[in-house]
Amino acid sequence: MRVVLVGPPGAGKGTQAQFVAQHLSVPKISTGDIFRANVSSGTPLGIEARRYMDAGDLVPDEVTSDMVRQRLLEEDCAKGFLLDGFPRNLTQAHVLEDIVLGIGQRLDVVLELVVDDDEVVRRLSGRRTCRQCNHVWHLDFDPPSREGICDACGGELFQRDDDKADTVLHRLEVYYTDTSPIVGHYANLGILVGIDATGPVDDVTDRALAALRPFER
Ligand code: AP5
Repeated sequence: MRVVLVGPPGAGKGTQAQFVAQHLSVPKISTGDIFRANVSSGTPLGIEARRYMDAGDLVPDEVTSDMVRQRLLEEDCAKGFLLDGFPRNLTQAHVLEDIVLGIGQRLDVVLELVVDDDEVVRRLSGRRTCRQCNHVWHLDFDPPSREGICDACGGELFQRDDDKADTVLHRLEVYYTDTSPIVGHYANLGILVGIDATGPVDDVTDRALAALRPFER
């Protein structure tokens, strides 16, 4: 199955992607995670991407699209994939359609996680990520038992630079200007399903899996 997750920053795409990908037995591909791994290891891609990420802007399409094209043509994606964070605008949506058509396949479904702006700000201001294992916590909704320490591996927790208040508001603007048009695009293609992504994580996962069920093959 070939699935795209879409939703504003902090909607819970990364949180849900791990469960949904596991359920569907497909690799989870997060462009944000790939960029952050490159930033951490100081690659030329990471150095370029960081300028845009820290400001809350989109990394240029040609850089992002080439990276995704290479990843989707890897062997483990032959039977499907779950994309988290791509496409982020109509240009990228057309690139994805080309890639999928090029391998004689089609995109099955686009799952939209719906949350309001106040919830986005609450989620992102409290998000903390482990430097060592990348596990994502939340200070109120899913707090670690020791402040600043990851329960999963004992690593140090940090706040993402792009989760600072001003940058979060800019990322929301970018979402509404650049990304939300793809929601209408996929609705017109008849492959969009939206779910309420508020409430406990397990409840959101149940809603996500129920929404995907009619598209499973
Ligand atoms: P990216 O990492 O994709 O950022 P994003 O889309 O803004 O999404 P986030 O990772 O911030 O949030 P999320 O929806 O995954 O939420 P999460 O599950 O962590 O991209 C970062 C940057 O990379 C971009 O700004 C851009 O610069 C660049 N980039 C990436 N892709 C690109 C592309 N295609 N083109 C160009 N540039 C690109 O949850 C958030 C918090 O809420 C967590 O603390 C979590 O514990 C908590 N939480 C989750 N679910 C719940 C719940 N149900 N209830 C309560 N709390 C919850």
